[in-house]
Amino acid sequence: MLNIDLKGKRAFIAGIGDDQGYGWAIAKALAEAGAEIIIGTWAPIVKIFTTSWDAGKFDESRKLSDGSLMQYAKVYPIDASFDTPDDVPEEIKENKRYKQYEGYTVSEVAKSIEKDFGTIDILVHSLANGPEVKKPLLETSRHGYLAALSSSAYSFVSLIQHMGPIMSEGGSAINLTYLASERAVPGYGGGMSSAKAALESDTRTLAWEVGRKWGIRVNAISAGALGSRAARAIGFIGAMIEYGYNNAPLQKELKADEVGRSAAFLLSPLATAITGSTLYVDNGMHAMGVAMDSPALSPQEAELQTT
Ligand SMILES: NC(=O)c1ccc[n+]([C@@H]2O[C@H](COP(=O)([O-])OP(=O)(O)OC[C@H]3O[C@@H](n4cnc5c(N)ncnc54)[C@H](O)[C@@H]3O)[C@@H](O)[C@H]2O)c1
Repeated sequence: MLNIDLKGKRAFIAGIGDDQGYGWAIAKALAEAGAEIIIGTWAPIVKIFTTSWDAGKFDESRKLSDGSLMQYAKVYPIDASFDTPDDVPEEIKENKRYKQYEGYTVSEVAKSIEKDFGTIDILVHSLANGPEVKKPLLETSRHGYLAALSSSAYSFVSLIQHMGPIMSEGGSAINLTYLASERAVPGYGGGMSSAKAALESDTRTLAWEVGRKWGIRVNAISAGALGSRAARAIGFIGAMIEYGYNNAPLQKELKADEVGRSAAFLLSPLATAITGSTLYVDNGMHAMGVAMDSPALSPQEAELQTT
């Protein structure tokens, strides 16, 4: 039987803050396949995440198919906008949500993982932030644009830079991107569309560089709309989910686990020849050039299009 076996593999998933997002679903699929899970959680929300975990709030979502609960080996506070302690501004260092932790920059987290575990086999980047995401690109400030690029795209370069040396040969990395990188999606502003375009381009370039240097594979998943905490903050996620339902080739809700399972495939030995790719996991939404629920299409015309 062909199945995904990740027993003996260790995965670091950066970008889990609750049980609603893609990072969680990916961790769960990897755990289901037998991998050991290490989590990177944005420093300011580590406490709420671990408290909720310990209080059993995620128990239902932690259930694996054999009835056991997903476990993690360790949670690391991380802020992927910073590479070294010198990059951290004084007001962040002094902020009480950061002050309690040491070593949350990318290079320090990599060093801690090396100290605690030695190596990792799998790296997942499931994080993004654009402070001006609600503003059209036309109204986005330079600061907001560069902040989106820093947190959402360069963060992946930095993770690979620092984790690559502790990844085993044959290791694999993925990130999560969105269709707005290549098609205009009004409402996904603040330079986030630009950040996703950079992330996809970097996926190809890094695939070449780290493929040759360390034998590591690098891929992206272009995921459809999901009502995660991050997406809810953008504001129009409900409309995008409904739009997908009405217009994608597969007329069904997109579940986070579908992205989780696709990620497990890409990160597994089933995908040893796949690198530098962007895999669409979006019910086929990316393939459409026409909105089937447009009022410009009369019911008869819409009918014609589907037969
Ligand atoms: N939800 C969607 O519709 C959708 C669609 C396509 C792609 N994506 C992508 O999926 C990935 C995961 O997002 P999600 O929607 O599952 O939401 P999510 O809220 O579960 O995950 C985003 C995480 O990023 C963390 N984060 C933000 N800034 C950070 C920083 N500087 N350092 C470390 N962590 C930071 C947040 O705390 C949060 O835990 C993102 O890259 C997102 O752009 C989401």
